[in-house]
Amino acid sequence: MKIAVAGGTGTVGKHVVHAARERGHDVVVLSREHGVDVHGNVGITASIDGADAVIDVLNTTTLSTKVARAFFSTATTNLLAAEAQVDTAHHVVLSIVGIDEIDTSYYAGKIAQERLVRGSDVPHTVARAAQFHEFAEQIASQTTLGPLTVAPRTLSRPVAAREVGAHLVSVAESEPGGRAPDLVGPEDDTLAGMIRRMYAHDRTSRRVLDVRFPGAYGTGLASGALRGGQGPQRVAGTTFDQWLESPDHHG
Ligand SMILES: NC(=O)c1ccc[n+]([C@@H]2O[C@H](COP(=O)([O-])OP(=O)(O)OC[C@H]3O[C@@H](n4cnc5c(N)ncnc54)[C@H](OP(=O)(O)O)[C@@H]3O)[C@@H](O)[C@H]2O)c1
Repeated sequence: MKIAVAGGTGTVGKHVVHAARERGHDVVVLSREHGVDVHGNVGITASIDGADAVIDVLNTTTLSTKVARAFFSTATTNLLAAEAQVDTAHHVVLSIVGIDEIDTSYYAGKIAQERLVRGSDVPHTVARAAQFHEFAEQIASQTTLGPLTVAPRTLSRPVAAREVGAHLVSVAESEPGGRAPDLVGPEDDTLAGMIRRMYAHDRTSRRVLDVRFPGAYGTGLASGALRGGQGPQRVAGTTFDQWLESPDHHG
């Protein structure tokens, strides 16, 4: 198959690309680094022409509801319009387990994105995964000031981005199914707990504050909704401690 990966240079995108190539697929990467701006609608059609499937793992980093909705709505609309033009047989979008009740901040963008995909005539599958083990690194890099890291109180069932990448390729190889089983990790954990274990593993001497964020966003994160469990689930095998020992953790 020929598979186009929108966001193929990102945290999960690079694993999607690796898994697809390992399985013998022809892969094309869409990212600004590769001269394709999905949000700005530059170069999409030419790059996905002839692809049997498009996997969308684009991202923007924001806590603003307005910015998140605008980014994911515009990028998804542009991508789906290009796919309709070249008759792409399968659009696969990665979303996040358990976000239904948290229609605010970053998750509002993901909910808007899912709606656009579900309402599209392009054959599609929405594949949700729990937060990545890599999320501990991503958050710590954004919320550390000197000897202190602030972790928003979050309960989830984290999963290795490598396993999410392989899962998305399996989904792309299958018929469009509307919704794939949620992919979750093997254990519940809090973000603060993950970051503390990461610092202990890396011998980083830093305090981690577990802070409940205000408002509906903070309530949603702390509620455990992000563990999922409403519909069918697939449980991935790599624990957070195994991931810490793997080359995927840049300690
Ligand atoms: N982090 C988690 O725990 C988690 C859990 C479940 C699902 N997800 C979902 O996984 C997806 C990917 O997240 P991630 O953390 O892997 O993302 P990431 O590391 O931030 O990577 C984002 C990717 O998007 C590309 N990109 C951004 N703007 C673009 C544009 N205008 N045009 C083309 N490419 C663009 C980036 O490449 P350039 O900068 O070169 O353009 C990069 O390849 C997101 O949709 C997120 O909601 C994340």
